[in-house]
Amino acid sequence: MDSGLLRAIFREITIKQPFERIPEPALVMEEQQSVASYADSAAQGQALSGTHLYHCAQMCALIKPGDVVLDIGCGPAALLLQVARLNPRAEFIGMDLSQNMLEVAREACHQQGIDNVQLIEDDMTRLSMIADRSVDVVISSMALHHLENLGQLEGTFRNISRVLRNDRAIYLNDFGRLKSIESVDYFVQRASDGADADTLLDYRNSLLAAFSLEEFQTLAASYLGPCAKVYSTAFSPLMMVIRTPKRRCVKVMKPEFRRRYSALPASRQADVNQLRLFLRLGGLASAF
Ligand SMILES: C[S@@+](CC[C@H](N)C(=O)[O-])C[C@H]1O[C@@H](n2cnc3c(N)ncnc32)[C@H](O)[C@@H]1O
Repeated sequence: MDSGLLRAIFREITIKQPFERIPEPALVMEEQQSVASYADSAAQGQALSGTHLYHCAQMCALIKPGDVVLDIGCGPAALLLQVARLNPRAEFIGMDLSQNMLEVAREACHQQGIDNVQLIEDDMTRLSMIADRSVDVVISSMALHHLENLGQLEGTFRNISRVLRNDRAIYLNDFGRLKSIESVDYFVQRASDGADADTLLDYRNSLLAAFSLEEFQTLAASYLGPCAKVYSTAFSPLMMVIRTPKRRCVKVMKPEFRRRYSALPASRQADVNQLRLFLRLGGLASAF
């Protein structure tokens, strides 16, 4: 373990309160340059590909054939399309408020010949296009920190609860707020291998805008039901996951997850390994 990580862990354990949240400069990612840069970082082998593989496997453990799955804040849909390809008998709705993100997502869907994904423009705080109790699984990745304030997070959780059927399944991952901005800068510098300047700035803004673990815990307990547990990476809440229990065994998909893992560059494999280790220490077992 490097000394920078030890110092960050020490700060995270000893400082009592997280720093004050700084909302994202662009809540909805509409600007062409940032959409293109984000879509590039989500492409195969790029900065987000290890993280996406880890969460893809976790999401698959919740999805059964015939399910309707809603992805809130799907962005360019790189993760959504991975999950949809592995679950061809489920129907997916990808939702985002950015027209430019949805345009990139539609193009990717078309190019990959995926026919079980519908993409819609909607606001996650309202889910106005989604009927009550019409969805089996709600998934979301790295999108909640784009909300302006805690009231919007509350509205999002209330609406997730409204649209889910009784046998509710939820997998939401996002950043958790750290205790010090020095820790933010440490984790950004740690991610710099292979990432461009825009991606690193976006990452820093995301960590500054993250909600705290306590905020997630309070709202999950109020709205998402007793089966939805909040997990975080051990020692520092860099990554947070809210998950209900698995609904299926993904044993048959494991060779495919391992094949995808082997195809990743070493730095992205390291991302998977760190998520596996620190989330496992935080109580959440890896799906592969
Ligand atoms: C960082 S991207 C995450 C994309 C994707 N889920 C992933 O894991 O790669 C966050 C997305 O949330 C979208 N977003 C922000 N506020 C939103 C809102 N109120 N409703 C729906 N989408 C929103 C942004 O436009 C952006 O595409």
